[in-house]
Amino acid sequence: MIPRIYIPGDSGALALGAEKVAKAIASELAERGIEAKIVRNGSRGAYFLEPMVEVATANGRVAYGPVKPSDVKSLFDGGFLTGGHHKRWLGAPDKIPFLAKQTRLTFARCGVTDPLSLESYKKHGGLNGLMNALGLTPAAIVAEVTESGLRGRGGAGFPTGIKWKTVLDTSGDRKYIVCNADEGDSGTFADRMIMEGDPFVLIEGMTIAGIATGATKGFVYVRSEYPHAVAVMNKAVEIARKAGVLGASVLGSAHAFDMEIRVGAGAYVCGEETALLDSLEGKRGMVRAKPPLPAHKGLFGKPTVINNVISLASVPVIMDKGAAFYKDFGMGRSRGTIPIQIAGNVKYAGLFEAAFGMTLGEIVDEIGGGTATGRPVKAVQVGGPLGAYFPRALFDTPFDYEAFAAKDGLIGHAGIVVFDDSADMLKQARFAMEFCAIESCGKCTPCRIGSTRGVETIDRIAAGIEPEKNLALVTDLCNTMKFGSLCALGGFTPYPVMSSITHFPDDFKPAPVRVAAE
Ligand SMILES: Cc1cc2nc3c(=O)[nH]c(=O)nc-3n(C[C@H](O)[C@H](O)[C@H](O)COP(=O)(O)O)c2cc1C
Ligand code: SF4
Repeated sequence: MIPRIYIPGDSGALALGAEKVAKAIASELAERGIEAKIVRNGSRGAYFLEPMVEVATANGRVAYGPVKPSDVKSLFDGGFLTGGHHKRWLGAPDKIPFLAKQTRLTFARCGVTDPLSLESYKKHGGLNGLMNALGLTPAAIVAEVTESGLRGRGGAGFPTGIKWKTVLDTSGDRKYIVCNADEGDSGTFADRMIMEGDPFVLIEGMTIAGIATGATKGFVYVRSEYPHAVAVMNKAVEIARKAGVLGASVLGSAHAFDMEIRVGAGAYVCGEETALLDSLEGKRGMVRAKPPLPAHKGLFGKPTVINNVISLASVPVIMDKGAAFYKDFGMGRSRGTIPIQIAGNVKYAGLFEAAFGMTLGEIVDEIGGGTATGRPVKAVQVGGPLGAYFPRALFDTPFDYEAFAAKDGLIGHAGIVVFDDSADMLKQARFAMEFCAIESCGKCTPCRIGSTRGVETIDRIAAGIEPEKNLALVTDLCNTMKFGSLCALGGFTPYPVMSSITHFPDDFKPAPVRVAAE
């Protein structure tokens, strides 16, 4: 059997030099006259070990990482094609602590299979969920998804089954499934990893959504900063179409479903579902007032399911193993697993899929290993740019939608960005307001004007101008934005601002004190 070498083609790994490593391995193989198959897999998500190269040996896979092109000669000399020892040797990937501690349901194949091999997908359980769904009525599929407890992973945590039921119950000559792959939250990369590392799972999830709701056409709206994901998704759709997974007769059934990949133009607000629909329709992305809900009147005025990549990619395992299996993981009303993305100033950055319920402290200190700088952790922003900053005092908060809401925070798309004690929380609060001002679609006043006034007021606090009065003004402004904004961009910007003020009051002290303290 010819040896197989797995080198990630995932953009995170590429950014860390995977292409150069792949070239070095290919030329070393040629020079040594060794025949081997190089598979460009996705990443397993342990980015601190990328580029992580794996070889398939008689005793299973053996990983090496992070591999540099300069390591390649010595890897061959050390017999890495048969798992030989080397300073980059990591052993069986499943035993690497960061990976071994995970519960991989949605990401089970990511980094393991060849992303564009439908055969490999099927060998690892792919299409089982779709085949099961084809044997059920649409209402039974919707009931299964509802029963699983799956909630939208895009940010709002809305129950996926209820959304699907609304579309199923709404009549329309045409219905759509729209996948939100705008992934604009800071420190998030789960959607990208799935699209690059296991694209068929998203295709399968969208097809099941189509069959469940009566939609025959799907669109994936991908951010323009994800060219690799767009390329992989386009190829995967083509392969799925040729294999009859997509098309007029899904896997030979009476159901039709096809899909297209569309690229956004780079606005954070286009991740908001109604602005996304405008953008998909070729308009400037502006938030629409609700009602009507997209489920009633969505894309081109037709009933539309809009779901995040991870929500849709979690459906195949639910339909394969059953709602009860999925529901068994998690805590409270947060069922199943969640791919937590650990980023920022952290030692072990990467994707960690786990059942809901781990505490923030376990994630940051144990899994993330604390800061990369070695300094104390000061704050952790959870849930993207609109998420609250949590201090160490709140590290006992379990990763659960309700538990985070109870602490004035949110889980969002499960991005975690770690900051050490050199972070200035006044600057972070100012940045939140500035971000909102830059990204505001401009439709409503609290967000459009409030964010700019917010920046100005925080600047006055920093300059020591009537700090107490201005602090009260920021608090009042945050209330207006929270309760008066049309969408969560303006409505949630108060989270990072107010959490900074509440948990890190010293950083908002008048300028002379701030300067003296520094
Ligand atoms: C400003 C803003 C940006 C958003 N960006 C995204 C995004 O990038 N990806 C996403 O899935 N949801 C995003 N959302 C949430 C979507 O509006 C929507 O709730 C989600 O796509 C629904 O899918 P889900 O139920 O599967 O989570 C954003 C919301 C707001 C207000
Ligand atoms: S809150 Fe901001 S982004 Fe949302 S609709 Fe209003 S102006 Fe637009």
